[in-house]
Amino acid sequence: MIRGEQLSKVFGEVQAVRPLDIHIPPRAVTAIMGGSGSGKTTLLRLLAGLERPTTGHVWFAGEDLTAISERRLFALREQMGMVFQYSALLNSLNVYDNVAFPLHEHTDLPERVIRRMVAMKLEQVGLRGFEHLMPSELSGGMAKRVAFARAMAMDPAVVFFDEPTSGLDPISAGVITELIRDTADTVQMTAVVVTHDVAAGLAIADHVILMWQGEVIARGTPAEIRASDDARVRQFIEGRPDGPIPFSRSTTPYAQSLLEEA
Ligand SMILES: Nc1ncnc2c1ncn2[C@@H]1O[C@H](COP(=O)(O)OP(=O)(O)OP(=O)(O)O)[C@@H](O)[C@H]1O
Ligand SMILES: [Mg+2]
Repeated sequence: MIRGEQLSKVFGEVQAVRPLDIHIPPRAVTAIMGGSGSGKTTLLRLLAGLERPTTGHVWFAGEDLTAISERRLFALREQMGMVFQYSALLNSLNVYDNVAFPLHEHTDLPERVIRRMVAMKLEQVGLRGFEHLMPSELSGGMAKRVAFARAMAMDPAVVFFDEPTSGLDPISAGVITELIRDTADTVQMTAVVVTHDVAAGLAIADHVILMWQGEVIARGTPAEIRASDDARVRQFIEGRPDGPIPFSRSTTPYAQSLLEEA
């Protein structure tokens, strides 16, 4: 479905993603896990064609995203849904217009058809009847669900999620996790979920990719990852501060916000 080949990304002095090969299997949930600053978001953005790699190629449905025109990329992106790390609803638009946004942007469908499609997506995420609320009136969990409904609006072949449960209470996080899993099972979607939440990642995924300092240090099924005897993998899944992975202040804004909250 999606394949990265010798994919890397350098930002100035920072090697965010070191050259790696990666395969995202179709009709399955792949979790990309790792600590703050390990390169998860960057890898996700490379796979979704939102970022140009420093080296390497990204193959999506047989086309190299790094070699095609902007126009072709825009067309291919109709087949990809994205739920960003910072929810990213359009604050001036209500729930209905947020979910309808990709349909208005990418299609010429009449409004009555769009209205039905939006209602269906909101039904799927349990938010039917909330069309008129503004983003500022939503809880964090509801906002994530609206973002999910919007990502699903075009019935994409693949949906990318960046930290879908971060900042949510355990119950709302559970709702989102189950929603992703159920949707993957019922509509056979391909999902790529970036998360530092070990429990959520292992619970949701068919396939896990574990990153550290821009490298893939483990991959396999959740059972294989749980059974790993690699010291870095064990430290990560057990959440211990002591071990080969040093605990230091990360430079990412997201990590900073977590530290400030803690
Ligand atoms: N646009 C950018 N410009 C400069 N440096 C960046 C940029 N994006 C990411 N980086 C750096 O690349 C590294 C990897 O960042 P990335 O956001 O991919 O990590 P992450 O695993 O998603 O972290 P988090 O869990 O905190 O979201 C970090 O050192 C980060 O500071
Ligand atoms: Mg990130």
